[in-house]
Amino acid sequence: PVKLGVMASGSGSNFEAIAQAIADRQLNAQVELLIYNNPGAKVVERTARWGVPSALFNHREFENREDLDRAIVQALQQAGVEWVIMAGWMRIVTPILICAFENRILNIHPSLLPSFKGNRAVEQALEAGVKITGCTVHLVVPEVDSGTIIMQAAVPVLPDDTVETLQNRIHLQEHQIYPPAIGFASQAFRKKLDSELPNLHRK
Ligand code: GAR
Repeated sequence: PVKLGVMASGSGSNFEAIAQAIADRQLNAQVELLIYNNPGAKVVERTARWGVPSALFNHREFENREDLDRAIVQALQQAGVEWVIMAGWMRIVTPILICAFENRILNIHPSLLPSFKGNRAVEQALEAGVKITGCTVHLVVPEVDSGTIIMQAAVPVLPDDTVETLQNRIHLQEHQIYPPAIGFASQAFRKKLDSELPNLHRK
């Protein structure tokens, strides 16, 4: 199984979808650690139910983004994490984290990238009047919401949608695509490593 470290800031419904896919043997992985930054985030109740260890890194207690990321990298490495899964992580990450897990960090974003990057992606879609939006799983690079796209799902925007109703519809699709995207990306990376580094023994 691929060893995952999940990073979340809020509700954690994507964490739950990943944990469920692992339990259902649809995803050959194990969540070693959940990193969260908001005390009281709902995701912690979910990790407790799944028996997944969690660690709070409250960004308000760090001088800057780099210090926060250094502490997070240390915790992820200590837990033996191979892939970092950002599941509603609402902080910008720095090259400290990105270089420590280069090409092994995934993010999910609630729009069809490259449209509507950044915060308020669902609001932006409503404001733009698009009739289709969706969600994207992509590799994390230093430029926000810009790495290689791994998987996307489209969602219709209905005439009387509010941010909440549209967000809920997008969430359902996120839960569908994130687990297979993790499986696909981690396997593709493993094959690439195997072919490029034939002498490197990998389990
Ligand atoms: C998800 O919709 C995800 O796409 C979004 O936060 C939500 C987290 O939901 N992420 C971003 O906006 C990243 N900029 P969850 O906590 O229920 O998984």
